[in-house]
Amino acid sequence: MELKIGIIGIGAMGRDHVERINERVNGAVVAAISDINKDTAIAYAEEIGATFFENAEDLISSEDIDAVVVTSWDPTHEDYVLECIKNNKYVFCEKPLAIEASGCLNIVHAETEKNKKFVQVGFMRRYDRGYEEIKHELQTGTLGETLLIHCTHRNEMVDEGYDTPMAVENTAVHEVDALRWLLEEDFVTAEVRLPKKQTTKTHAKLHDPQLILLETESGVIIDLEVFVNCQFGYDINCKVVCEQGEIGLTNPTYYSIKTERKDSTRVPSDWKERFIAAYDRELQIWVDGVKNDNITGPSAWDGYMASVTTSACSEARDTGERKDIKFEPKPGLYNQKLRETI
Ligand code: NAI
Repeated sequence: MELKIGIIGIGAMGRDHVERINERVNGAVVAAISDINKDTAIAYAEEIGATFFENAEDLISSEDIDAVVVTSWDPTHEDYVLECIKNNKYVFCEKPLAIEASGCLNIVHAETEKNKKFVQVGFMRRYDRGYEEIKHELQTGTLGETLLIHCTHRNEMVDEGYDTPMAVENTAVHEVDALRWLLEEDFVTAEVRLPKKQTTKTHAKLHDPQLILLETESGVIIDLEVFVNCQFGYDINCKVVCEQGEIGLTNPTYYSIKTERKDSTRVPSDWKERFIAAYDRELQIWVDGVKNDNITGPSAWDGYMASVTTSACSEARDTGERKDIKFEPKPGLYNQKLRETI
């Protein structure tokens, strides 16, 4: 049976997921869409053969829809996800789960009241082969204890709507989740340094680059450079330094070009190119999980923990101080074993 999916928010990410579900994911079809931009959405619904719902709540409660994908603007996520839980519908919600940690906690409480996980958050890096292989290698223990992690999150450039807080809340949030998952431990402190020396390619509202320092429960220190006007491409690095060696990501590439005494490989242009395989796997595994009534991806609790951590980073940046990261006790619902990697 094909899973009938309704998507709320048909912008860049929503359309990407429509294409993914209809063309590359097995066992699911986009049956309905909803977007506040009505005329564009009606035309798009016709194009893909889906039903248009003017009211997203009607899409969520429709008996013709088995599960929901939320790809609307960030401030709308919390209400739509809560509505899905109320209607006992599985929901895949793009990050962030909610604007504030308290909003994420509302979702956690709604799930715990029903004693069931309905929510998966769009942290696709957990499905990237590079991160999965690093996690697998760390779990074998052959490299010894993990000591330090060096990360970079670099984008070619951003527009003037992107400001200093977004570097943490919209960009570094991916590392925050991926590293928590990689190490299977939480962060205890956050610090953010805004270097005096900035790129001339930035604009008034954005301090670029920024340096984030996180410390985990066991004492692993992570430095994360967020540099979103780096000019040369989308460059994601993660080097884990262990007692017996180092393990890190490489940019997935299948060829190199040798010319004019240079040997070069491509740097991806953006996240869609770099993580395309991860996005596809993320949704395939989610669809399979919904059909088996057992979703195993990033949970509402992971969405909450990411939010608590990024809020501490924002506070650390604004005060110039190192901040403790405090969180509520974890409900038993979220102690289930995670999906095995690879
Ligand atoms: P976008 O602005 O291109 O699209 C958002 C769409 O939502 C628009 O069509 C807008 O009309 C619609 N919308 C806004 N409020 C709505 C409401 N109340 N009800 C129904 N529709 C509504 O934005 P984009 O880039 O597609 O981002 C969407 C979400 O995906 C964001 O939350 C963003 O953080 C997330 N995202 C995640 C990425 C990832 O790597 N996982 C990458 C890029 C975005």
